[in-house]
Parts: sequence; C-alpha cells; structure tokens
Amino acid sequence: MNRPGKIAPSIAAGDYLRMGDELRAVTEAGADYIHVDVMDGHFVPNLTFGPEVISYIKKGTPLPLDVHLMIENAEDTFADYISAGASIVTVHIEAVRHLHRLIHEMKRRNVKVGVAINPSTPVETLAEILPDLDLVNVMSVNPGFYGQAFIPGTLDKVARLRRLAAGRGEALEIEVDGGIKLDNIAPVAAAGADVFVSGSGVFKNPPYAATIRKMRDALRPR
Ligand code: DX5
Ligand code: ZN
Repeated sequence: MNRPGKIAPSIAAGDYLRMGDELRAVTEAGADYIHVDVMDGHFVPNLTFGPEVISYIKKGTPLPLDVHLMIENAEDTFADYISAGASIVTVHIEAVRHLHRLIHEMKRRNVKVGVAINPSTPVETLAEILPDLDLVNVMSVNPGFYGQAFIPGTLDKVARLRRLAAGRGEALEIEVDGGIKLDNIAPVAAAGADVFVSGSGVFKNPPYAATIRKMRDALRPR
C-alpha cells in the first residue's frame, strides 16, 4: 500500500496565548491539516472552543481545518462550524441519534464529513454509513484531553476498518487520534491509517519542523 499519510497537529495542545504563532509555526513546519478539538463539557468532561474561536483559527492558517466535534446536539450546531471555516466536520457516533440524516445534511453543505468512534465502539458499527463518509476518526484515547497514552487495541481496529473500507480507495481517509508520537506512528501507519492526529507529540516537541519531518520519515514503508 502506498498512501502518503497526513499529519494533523491538534491545536488544543498548543499555547493558547500564542495561537497565531502556533498556527503559523505548524503550517510552515509542513502540517497537512489543523485538527481542531471541540469539547462541550457534556459529551466529554472538558471544554475547549466553539465556532467563533474557530473563525479566528481559520484566519491563522491556509491549511484545511479538521474539526472534531466532541459535542452533544451536533444536529443543531454543525452549520456554525461550517460557517466558521471547517473543511472536514467529524461527529461522534456515540453522540448522534440519527446519524444518517445528519451526515446527509452536512454533505449538502460542501464540507467533508467524518464520523469518530470511541475506543469501546467497534468499527463494524460503521458498516452501513461507511459509503457516505469522507473520513473515519478511530479514537486511540478516550476523548476529552490531550496528552493521554495510546490504546494499543486501536491497531487491530484500524486494520479491520481498512478491510471494511476496501474498495473506497483514497475516497475514505482513516484518521487515528490520540497519543500518537514519533515513537509509535509507524505501527499506526502499518495498520492502515492515512491521517495522524498529534497534539502533545507535536506541540510539546519543538522545533515542529523537525518533529513533523521525522514523523513523515517514519511513515515511509521500509
Ligand atoms: C482527544 C482529542 C485529541 C487530542 C490529541 O480528546 O480528540 O485530538 O487532542 O492530543 P494527543 O496527541 O496529545 O493525544
Ligand atoms: Zn481530536
């Protein structure tokens, strides 16, 4: 398999006081997406930012914003995230009651759509909706905080999802999110992932250009 692999630094792990500098630095360092973690204090125990902050993030980088909604009631608010500048909007299967309806409402708005699954959610539960998705986010930590340890069972889930998605080719991106660092990115790639979210793995390991370059080197098949 020869899929290039995208690095998506999670801005939630950056220095909020210097958000503009952080965005510029990871953009210049060669990131592919900016991963934007939206937490509502209900679906997950933490709070981060909403549409208005995202509209500022949008001004701070030309990169696509990969917006990960860890929120309840995404059905009522998703359009605000699209208006704020999201290129990809991902909702949690555990937080949406009528997923098919929501996915199709989002697709009508010229945005890429993703579904995220928690560590305890089997990938097989995506079988019916998979043909409609642009991205699946396989969470490799329980959502809510950056800086947690990668859950090893994720590797088997990614491999199973890759088999389930056989035939979608490059039209479906498999993203892995949580605890990805330079020292464990290679097995995640080998399992079949395309997009590698890294929060503390990038932002707590300056200089960012060197870290991202080494991550990319680790993605190359040997
Ligand atoms: C967890 C978030 C992740 C997280 C990544 O709830 O969805 O995107 O910020 O950060 P690290 O790479 O530090 O686990
Ligand atoms: Zn995330």
